[in-house]
Amino acid sequence: MDTAHDHLYKLIEDYVASGYRRRNPRQHNAAATAQTAPAADDDRVVTGEERERRLADLVAAIRSCNNCPLSAVRNRAVPGAGVLDPLVMVIGEGPGADEDRTGEPFVGRAGAFLDKWLEAVDLSRETNAYITNIVKCRPPQNRDPLPDERAACIPYLERQIALVRPRVILSVGRISSRIVCGVDTSMGEIRKQAFQYRGVPVVATYHPSAVLRNETLKRPVWEDLKRLRAICDRS
Ligand code: URA
Repeated sequence: MDTAHDHLYKLIEDYVASGYRRRNPRQHNAAATAQTAPAADDDRVVTGEERERRLADLVAAIRSCNNCPLSAVRNRAVPGAGVLDPLVMVIGEGPGADEDRTGEPFVGRAGAFLDKWLEAVDLSRETNAYITNIVKCRPPQNRDPLPDERAACIPYLERQIALVRPRVILSVGRISSRIVCGVDTSMGEIRKQAFQYRGVPVVATYHPSAVLRNETLKRPVWEDLKRLRAICDRS
């Protein structure tokens, strides 16, 4: 059988067997990622123990992922860290140099600042938060992740949300907030609006690195953190 027939045959076979779940292998990288991070629908019905197991599998898949060119230039992929069923999932843009070296999210100067923000509203990655990024590998020179790189990584984020089950999402920075909130406006505009991502309420705020560079952003961040805490308390 030639490749085209073989492919068509597999699609028909899948349609009959599983309601057309297999992705077209010729599609974009994101489809390849979706195959390694499959069936988020199933994650809604599993026990905490099973979610732990699936999350560990997902972390292993991310650590060995080669679905976009960033994998060729990373030292370590940075899947994320924190607890299951957290009050908040923090979503940043992508690992920096410190994270690329250690494999842990937000461990540099911005990470230490983020930890202070969380602590100010009784949150921490050890007890009631999960921290991750839009892309799991460091873009060279910390440039913005490219559309293809984001598209290849987003299925991992979606799967993390389904497995981790945060009550609220805190998106930090323009890149993360634009993607999570599905808009193309300024950080100042986004943070004033209410959004949901995958059914989870989102609070969008400035990136800790931006606030380290510009102290006048501290006040709006504090307002956003109070709003985040209020949502945690009533959800
Ligand atoms: N900045 C981010 O957006 N994410 C990290 O993990 C570190 C710095």
